[in-house]
Amino acid sequence: MKNILDAPFVKEMCATTANMYRLGWDERNGGNISYLLDEKEVGEYLDLDNVIRTIPTGFKADGLIGKIFIVTGTGKYFKNVEFDPENNLGIIRIAKDGETAELLWGYSDGGKFTSELPAHLMSHISRLSVNPENRIIMHCHPDYTLAMTQVHEMEERVLTRTLWKQMTESIVVFPDGIGVLPWMVCGTNEIGIATAEKMKQYRLVIWTLHGIYGAGKDMDETFGLIETVEKAAKQYMLTANLPKVNTISDEGLKALAKRFELTYRTDYLDL
Ligand code: 13P
Ligand code: ZN
Repeated sequence: MKNILDAPFVKEMCATTANMYRLGWDERNGGNISYLLDEKEVGEYLDLDNVIRTIPTGFKADGLIGKIFIVTGTGKYFKNVEFDPENNLGIIRIAKDGETAELLWGYSDGGKFTSELPAHLMSHISRLSVNPENRIIMHCHPDYTLAMTQVHEMEERVLTRTLWKQMTESIVVFPDGIGVLPWMVCGTNEIGIATAEKMKQYRLVIWTLHGIYGAGKDMDETFGLIETVEKAAKQYMLTANLPKVNTISDEGLKALAKRFELTYRTDYLDL
């Protein structure tokens, strides 16, 4: 059996949480990541018959029975993951009943998965239904995105248009736009259901006055989505108090969509 600490997916979790922490996206225990793993690959590192303990999830995820995820732990600090992965991360498998997580590795101090597991697992189900390649759900609290939710209208078309117009790369990276939820209590099945509903059409969902969710087929794609939204939000916040002299027109955005052959939200541009 190979050493689990050498597994690419453990290394990716360590590198990504460290990057996110250093970008200021994850203060204290802020943020969480779940990563759908390949059973065969995990089997090279762990005895899949050895369940350390079982943990109720508090909701049904029938669409994910038997699926294995590596997930950040609740209350754990992203800055610490790279130094102690076995305590700060866990590998779980959704049991046959659909509502229990079987712990295969990690959470070594007796801890458990993120309190946002409902939003993660329900979002995995939504994304897999539109893209069977989806593997990652990522949540964090980036500064400018969060600041923008205090001062900008939080309506999907209006917010997406503003972010598309901040810089050329926006529409290229997130042509499908951004979903928005109003402020809600986090860590609940309700916010999980609402997030997953948005995830049927968006890879990005902003939680007003809380943070952002991103989804993608791998860590780079998901990280890049959030990174680009945060960059555009930074442009907005840096210039919010200044007279706007230049902006990208709807015609310009349409020309970008043509050049890069984007499948984009055409209803988000003036026709
Ligand atoms: P967890 O520590 O439970 O992952 O919660 C952090 C967070 O960002 C809540 O939304
Ligand atoms: Zn959060």
